Amino acid sequence: MKTLTQNLVLTIALLLTMAMLITSEANGRLRADETAVIKNDISGENITIHCYSSEDDLGIHTLPYAANFTWYFNVNVGGSTKFYCDLATGHGSGNYGVFDRRLETQCHDYCLWLIQAYGPCLVQTAYAGQLYCQPWKKPPHHIKAFAS
Ligand SMILES: *[C@@H]1O[C@H](CO)[C@@H](O)[C@H](O)[C@H]1NC(C)=O
Ligand SMILES: *[C@@H]1O[C@H](CO)[C@@H](O)[C@H](O)[C@H]1NC(C)=O
Repeated sequence: MKTLTQNLVLTIALLLTMAMLITSEANGRLRADETAVIKNDISGENITIHCYSSEDDLGIHTLPYAANFTWYFNVNVGGSTKFYCDLATGHGSGNYGVFDRRLETQCHDYCLWLIQAYGPCLVQTAYAGQLYCQPWKKPPHHIKAFAS
């Protein structure tokens, strides 16, 4: 009879421990692991950004000089989470991948993009903050290339 009670107590303790483990794992999944920041680094200019993934549309935002747009997210189980941004400035524009598996190796869990006159530049936390810059894909709208 005594052993039966002891077994019952042990079983309940075990079940409670398992329930706590499952709960803490679920909480861990809800915490955002990644931060992405798009910052206007073109003085005297407002820029327009529109960032999105296959699951989230983060909307269209106008950023004055030195302002930023920041969001937090988790990488999905398959590791295929990708974010893109349409960026428009007076110097050029284009659509750029701002987070994916490859970029994560350059910026880890904090991906800060400085939008400069030359184009978007990623601050590579993995390489002492060295900038990884891409040129604009499209020229600015108000300049007609090769106009006579
Ligand atoms: C940026 O936008 C603000 C608010 O709309 C406006 O007051 C300001 O003149 C704009 N600056 C430039 C350089 O266009
Ligand atoms: C982004 O803006 C917020 C709010 O103004 C500020 O606290 C934060 O330091 C800025 N981040 C960067 C990288 O400039």
